[in-house]
Amino acid sequence: MDSLTVRSPAKLNLVLDVLGKRPDGYHELRTIFERISLSDQITLARNRSGKIHIRCNHPHVPCGPQNLVYQAAKLLSGDFSISEGLNINIIKNIPVAAGLAGGSSNAAAVLSGLNRLWQLGLSNAQLVKYAARLGSDVAFFLYNTAYALGTGRGEIIKPLNVKTKLWHVLVTPRVKMHTPEVFARLKLNLTNKRDNVNILLPFLRKGDLVPLAGALANDLEPAILSLRPDFIKLKKKFIDAGALGACFSGSGPSVFALAESQPHAVSLRAQFDRRYTQASVVSTL
Ligand code: C5P
Repeated sequence: MDSLTVRSPAKLNLVLDVLGKRPDGYHELRTIFERISLSDQITLARNRSGKIHIRCNHPHVPCGPQNLVYQAAKLLSGDFSISEGLNINIIKNIPVAAGLAGGSSNAAAVLSGLNRLWQLGLSNAQLVKYAARLGSDVAFFLYNTAYALGTGRGEIIKPLNVKTKLWHVLVTPRVKMHTPEVFARLKLNLTNKRDNVNILLPFLRKGDLVPLAGALANDLEPAILSLRPDFIKLKKKFIDAGALGACFSGSGPSVFALAESQPHAVSLRAQFDRRYTQASVVSTL
C-alpha cells in the first residue's frame, strides 16, 4: 500500500461542563461529544524524500510543524524509526479554530492512517495514548462511536451506546476563537453546579428532542461572549426561527441548533444564507 484516504469528521459538544482548574493548568471537563457529518478528507502517501510535506486547500491551515497532523506523523516516525517521507493532503471543509475540533480530528485520522500505512501494529489503546499527547480532543476521534462521554481534559473517552440520530444547523462566524484565550476568560462558579451530562443523557437515549434541546449546555458560553458579546444574536436568531434549541460548540464561535428533522434543518439554514456563508445542515455520523 502506497497511499490511503480517510474521512476526518468534526464534533459538537452537546454538554460541556467545566468542573474546575487543575494543577497542570488544564480544566477538568465532563462533556458529551457528538460526531457529525461535516468532514475533511485526508490522503497519506509515501514519498522518498524522507520529509513530511503537508498540502491543504485552506489558506489559514499551517503546513509546517504547528499543524497537529505534522506532530502526529513526527511522533510515530520518531518512535518507529521510519526513514521514508510522507505527503499529507488535507481537503478542509471543517471551519478552522471554530470549536469543532477539525485539527484534532485530522491528527487522529493521521495516527490511525499511519498505523495502517506503515503497518505499525498499534492497538487502539496505544493510539489513544499518542492522541492525548497531541491534544485534549484528539482521542474521541479514535473511537468508532457517534457519541461519547469525555472526562479529564476531555481525553478520557467512554463511548455511549446511543442510537438517536440528530439533525442540526451549524453556523460558524468568520472569526477564529483560540481555545486557551477562551479558557483564560472563564470565571469558574462551582457552587450549585448542575450535572448537565446526567440531565441530558436520558433525553438523548430516548430521542426526546424537546427536553434534549432544553438540556444543551456549555460552561464556556460566558467566556466566548466576553470576547464577542454580539454572538448571542446567533443563538437568538436560531430560537426566533423555530429551532428546538441552540448552543455554542466547544470554545466557539460555532453555534449549532437542534432541529426536529432534516427538512426542518434545511428551512432553518435558509435563515442564515445571506450573511453567514459558513452555515450547513449536519447530522450525527
Ligand atoms: O489540549 P489542547 O492542546 O487542545 O488544549 C488547548 C488549550 O486549551 C490548553 O493549552 C488550555 O489552555 C485549554 N484547555 C483547558 N482545559 C482543557 C482543554 C483545553 O484549559 N480541558
